[in-house]
Amino acid sequence: MNISVINYDILDSTNSEALKQARLGAAEGLCISARQQTAGRGRHGRIWISEVDAGLCFSIILRPKIETKYLPLITLMSGIAVHQTLKELGLNPDIKWVNDILINDKKICGILAETTDSELGLAVIVGIGLNILSSNYPPEMTETATSIENESASQTHPSTLKNQLISILIANISKFYHILSQKNGHLAIVDDWSKRSSFVRGKEVRVNLHDEVFTGITDGLEESGALKLILPDGSVRIINSGEVGRVRAQNI
Ligand code: BTN
Repeated sequence: MNISVINYDILDSTNSEALKQARLGAAEGLCISARQQTAGRGRHGRIWISEVDAGLCFSIILRPKIETKYLPLITLMSGIAVHQTLKELGLNPDIKWVNDILINDKKICGILAETTDSELGLAVIVGIGLNILSSNYPPEMTETATSIENESASQTHPSTLKNQLISILIANISKFYHILSQKNGHLAIVDDWSKRSSFVRGKEVRVNLHDEVFTGITDGLEESGALKLILPDGSVRIINSGEVGRVRAQNI
């Protein structure tokens, strides 16, 4: 994949800009980064706060050639790439299905994958928001959110750290995207993700769907990346990554 990065001082959303570029025919590998977002978007229609120079706001255009049923695995692949990047910075991250990256049970990074059609075919935009400084989120979120500043003893200047993060992240996205694109790559991604997540098995979680809330015990992933749950009555329920819903551990 040929990588090129465009850096902006300010954007509404790096995902919105990447979607626009993808529709205009931008090639796979174009990355959009911004020092600040005025309308950063999270999953389920939430806003993603992005204070100037306090976090990584990064989106990459992918044009996957994998079977449609495996497209949800792009999200898991991206989670693996972020997890690996944080490990390489000496941190000890965890992944909560489907794509929250946690440190010490607090969220440090969120991933929003969106698709669009274009003349070049389907494009997937992977947007990554990572807290570098704690000023990236409001004080009332300190119980549930964290930052590299909080979790690392490193004195590296935030802008140097951001450049390091971007280059390690791009290398990891390229690596794991390549793995996903190969024959049986979906199995390798499911296996790798499962090894990195303490949530994959035996965790009691609460699932919030549109109009339904229920609890269950996690029991691994399906080949598509969907989460398997054992419900209190012993039945099995599959939570698709395509569904609008989220899983939260009860104590988070
Ligand atoms: C989540 O809700 O956990 C996902 C948050 C994703 C935020 C990132 S920041 C860069 C990119 N641009 C956006 O507008 N959103 C994503």
